[in-house]
Parts: sequence; structure tokens; C-alpha cells
Amino acid sequence: MEKFIVKGEVQLNGNIRVSGAKNAILPIMAATLLCSGISIIHDIPYLRDITVMQDILGLLGAKITREGSTLLVDTTNIKEIEIPEHLMREMRASVFLMGPLLGRFNKVRLSYPGGCAIGPRPIDLHIKALEKIGARVKESFGFIKASADCLTGGEINFDYPSVGATENAMMASVLASGLTVIRNAAREPEIYDLQVFLNKMGARITGAGTDTIQIYGCEKLVPAEHTVMSDRIQAGTFLLAAAITRGDIVVENIMPEHLFTLIDKLKDIGAQITMGNNFIRVKAGDLRGVDIKTLPYPGFPTDLQAPLLSLLTVATGTSIITETIFENRFKHVNELLRMGAKIKVEGRTAIIRGMPKLTGAIVAATDLRAGGALVLAALAAEGISEIENVYHIDRGYERLEEKLQSLGANISRHKMG
Ligand code: UD1
Repeated sequence: MEKFIVKGEVQLNGNIRVSGAKNAILPIMAATLLCSGISIIHDIPYLRDITVMQDILGLLGAKITREGSTLLVDTTNIKEIEIPEHLMREMRASVFLMGPLLGRFNKVRLSYPGGCAIGPRPIDLHIKALEKIGARVKESFGFIKASADCLTGGEINFDYPSVGATENAMMASVLASGLTVIRNAAREPEIYDLQVFLNKMGARITGAGTDTIQIYGCEKLVPAEHTVMSDRIQAGTFLLAAAITRGDIVVENIMPEHLFTLIDKLKDIGAQITMGNNFIRVKAGDLRGVDIKTLPYPGFPTDLQAPLLSLLTVATGTSIITETIFENRFKHVNELLRMGAKIKVEGRTAIIRGMPKLTGAIVAATDLRAGGALVLAALAAEGISEIENVYHIDRGYERLEEKLQSLGANISRHKMG
């Protein structure tokens, strides 16, 4: 168990490069299972969720080699179609394995997935989608077994645009016998990146990035090589770090169009923004409060809600945040209160009264993005803060302390006593 110790009130300045997106890499790693051979994926950060996915693929029989930031996944000898329970529990994204295993072997067995403690995260939409393309799904004693004699195309009309269920449906249907149409699909950029990878494997998919995706089934796929899209959530966190420390940061290797809702809000908050093809610069002085509602893409991302909330605790005036995607995604609020923040939560709404300053305190990360939020708060706070349970942060931010140190932050990692 490790913690961060942060001495706050240091302005962050400089350039930072963002790595490949965890939320694009995990489904793409799962997609490599759809065929036999070696797929190559570039720009992979060292993250705990990625290591867990490597472990799961390894247990299924894949051979994974890492060369710097490149992963080579050899899926020639996949023998297992059952995902061990302890690994399913560790990471919700393991549910992505259902689609590709079913697509390639016509059967899969897994237990209910785990992940962040941010509210109930059912998988009913994943299961319904698989049934629509011909799978039989049985649930008993916490396990899910899906099988099919032959997957056929089908019409999948989602009640809600779930990111994971859209990705699972795409991966399950690429080897099905006919056309699959997914309506009310999630439109996140990571879904487009998955389409690009699957099409490199020989799939015939169109429409990802819109709410209707067509998948024309094909007989065989081949391994592919791909550089994953950059991490818009990591990028957003650094942009918010610039604002909360009243600093000046250039975030590089990003697609500004993936972050337009955040950029607009940062402008409303009072930050100065400049952009190029693949960078955004944020320079901040005085900040004022804004209201925000999280929504599926292209709305404001729920994954940036917690870091933004930290920023609003030190912006002048009152802000209101409404979280519409996940329940229990205000767990960082109790920790921020320890730092002197003035926040009131009512159901899915947080009302924030901006303070001139937060004060350092001992706080604990409760999930990945809450952890990111606490680091930002600590960077701005007067005095010293300790952030416990860094393992949550390591799930999605690679060596966050080193990246922040390179921007001038006074932050270090320590063993918890
Ligand atoms: C993905 C992201 C996560 C992000 C989230 C929303 C990955 C690895 N994770 O998670 O970082 O916060 O999108 O942008 O890409 N739901 C159901 N039934 C289902 C599936 C989902 O009710 O079968 C509900 C969930 O409980 C939640 C909402 O739909 O309330 C959104 O979930 P979803 O879009 O599926 O998120 P994930 O794919 O889990």
C-alpha cells in the first residue's frame, strides 16, 4: 500500500505528453482474441488495469511480450474460454472478453465483473446485445455462461448508450454470419478506435462515433498493428491541474476535439485556452464557478467530474454538478470536506461554494477518478496533504507523481506505514 505526499500551492508549468488511452487499450487487447496470431499495439502506458488484462489474456493461453511501450499479443494458443473469478473481480473491463471469446469460440464463461466502487454497474445491456445476435446466455450462482451454435447478425437497440456494451456487441458480431446494426450506440472516441483496430483485422464495420453502427459479419480475421488513440481523460486531468494551480501547461499528443466540452467549461471558468492540431495550452488566473451535468459523449465526461469538482472548490461563487451516469460518484466529496471544501451533496447533485483556499489533510482515494481529484486538490491546498490508496490512481494514471514533478509539483510516493 502506498500514499502520495504533496506540498501544495506550487504553480505547475511546462509541457506534458499524454499516452495511449486505457479505455481504448482494454477493449483492443480483448479484440486480439478474435483471431490467431500476433497483434501489435503501440503507446501502452504502465497501468494496473492493463497488467490485469495481460494476466487474464495470459491465463487464457495468450503470450504477451512488452517492448517498451509496445505490446505484442500472440493469441495462437488460446485454450481457455473461462475467465478466472478473482481477475474478473479486479476489473470491470474484463467483461469485454465476453464478446471476442464468444465470437471466436462460440462459448465463454465468466463471473460478474468488479471495478470501481462507483455504484451498481449491471451488465444487462451486454447480455441482451449478445442474445440479439443468437447467443444463449445463462446466469447462475454469480456466473454467466454464453454459447451459440452459430452467431447470426441482428438488430441491437440499446435502451442506453453503454460504452462497454457497444464495444462488446461490436466484437461479438464481427464473425457472425450476417449484418448487425447497433442503434443508440455509445459515441465515445474509444469506440471509433476499436472500429479502426477491428477493420485492420479484416472486419467490416462502419458508423462508430455515431449512434448507429453497422457490422457486416466476415469469416476470418487476421492480427493487426495499431497505435491507440491518446487518453482524453488523462489529458483533461492535466488541463485541470494547470487551472487549479493557476499555472500554464501545454498538454501534447491529444485530439482537442475529444475535449471540447471540457475546453468550453474551462473558458467559462476563466482559463485562457490555446489549441493546435494535437495540443491544448491552459493558462489560468482567477477562476469562477460553473454548472455542469455529466452525459454520454459528446457530453461532459463522468470520468472528469471528480477532478473538475476539485477545481470548483477553489473557484469564486457557487457551482452545481449533476452526475447522471453513475451513482455513488461523489465519494471524493467527503475527502475534500476534510481539506476545507464547502460541498453539499443531494442525491446526484453536488453544490459547491468556492473557497479562496483548501488546506492540506490526510485523505484516501476511493476510486480511480476520485484519486485524481484528490491529487489536484492537494496540489492547490495550503500545506501538506497525504493521499492514501494510491493503487486506485495507478489503475488509470501512469506514474502520476513523476509526470506532475516534471511540471514542478512537490509530490512523492511513499509506503504506507
Ligand atoms: C466506460 C469507461 C468508464 C466511463 C464509462 C462512462 C472503460 C473501460 N470504462 O465504462 O471509464 O466512466 O464508460 O463513460 O471504457 N449500464 C447498465 N447496464 C449495462 C451496462 C451499463 O445499466 O449492461 C449503466 C451503468 O451502470 C452506468 C451507465 O450504464 O450507469 C454507463 O455505463 P457504461 O457506458 O457501460 O460504462 P462502462 O463501459 O462500464
